Amino acid sequence: MSTLSQISLNSSYMKKETSTKLTEKLKIQALKELESAQDLDMLQDWRINYLGRKGKITQILRGLSDLSPADRRQAGSVANETRKILESSLDAKEKDIRQTQLLTQIEQEQIDVTLPGLPSPTGKLHIITQTLREICAVFSSMGFEIAEGPEVELDRYNFEMLNIPKEHPARDMWNTLWVDSQNDIGNESMLLRTHTSPMQARIMEKKTPPIRVVVPGKCYRYEATDATHEWHFHQVEGLVIDKGITFANLKSTLYEFVKIMFGQERKIRFRCDYFPFVEPGVDMSIDCFKCNGTGCRVCSETGWIEIMGAGIVHPNVLESVGYDPEGISGFAFGMGPERIAMLKHGIEDIRHFYSNNLRFLNQF
Ligand code: FA5
Repeated sequence: MSTLSQISLNSSYMKKETSTKLTEKLKIQALKELESAQDLDMLQDWRINYLGRKGKITQILRGLSDLSPADRRQAGSVANETRKILESSLDAKEKDIRQTQLLTQIEQEQIDVTLPGLPSPTGKLHIITQTLREICAVFSSMGFEIAEGPEVELDRYNFEMLNIPKEHPARDMWNTLWVDSQNDIGNESMLLRTHTSPMQARIMEKKTPPIRVVVPGKCYRYEATDATHEWHFHQVEGLVIDKGITFANLKSTLYEFVKIMFGQERKIRFRCDYFPFVEPGVDMSIDCFKCNGTGCRVCSETGWIEIMGAGIVHPNVLESVGYDPEGISGFAFGMGPERIAMLKHGIEDIRHFYSNNLRFLNQF
């Protein structure tokens, strides 16, 4: 018989001698095959072939009943011993294969730390939020507090307490979006604040001097939009109230702000301007950082760029919040971050900020 697979296991063949020899041969053959098995599938086939319900060893064990009791005992013990050896060899081989597979898997899964990383898309702050934070950080470093106030405001704070009584022509300076009068509180007209200045009155009403505060926030005006005007935009209001505050304090504070925000070499210029809640009132410009004051497109060939309104707080405003204008004085200013961002980054149209064009916004 050339191969064991051809061995017939019929009972006539199952003499004690034959059975024991057959078992021995099967063992050698089985262990040889087991040795060459390379994966778990091959192991499974091997197990079925030798140890399965119809496997070769199982059949030998079944055929033992044909032997005499004495022969059966000896042949049975050899067959059982062989089965145990094959079972434990199978276990060892399985462990071996699993270990090799694990090592191969680990090897294949190794991370190449030199590969470039995959960028994870993250959001970022809108350029106007960045600018607002930059402005506030400068004033914060000078000891200013930061406060915020309501965007839906009472006529009283937006106008009356700022020395702009009803029917006063100065109201025309702020094209106002009024809120449905059905919702008025205590018969007071409400509006979308046209500037952040109402927070001057709200803060002074609550606090006693000294006060040093900046108020960033959104404003709304019933205005046609163009390259420098939006109907909703931001302002940063500033207010300083204490004993003996003069225009010199206003100048030095704003000069310091300009130098940090736009560069140490910047010059500033004040020109008279009218705001009902300050006296004197000014607009403040910086010399153009693009052309250093010689005249260019950014500064409309004037050499100067206007960045904010400011002035000494009007005595009527101080009185409206119960302060004594004889003992207390202060200055206020209000600037537009959109226009500051436009100047700093050379943006030619304010409408880009709120057009939600990511190709524009991703630049900052
Ligand atoms: C005022 O609103 C005053 N409350 C500022 C002020 C505060 C003066 C304290 C004195 C003391 P004005 O209307 O000029 O001022 O607006 C101030 C800034 O807001 C402007 O310089 C500009 O940068 C910005 N601004 C005004 N209107 C618009 C608009 N429609 N779109 C974008 N920015 C605007």
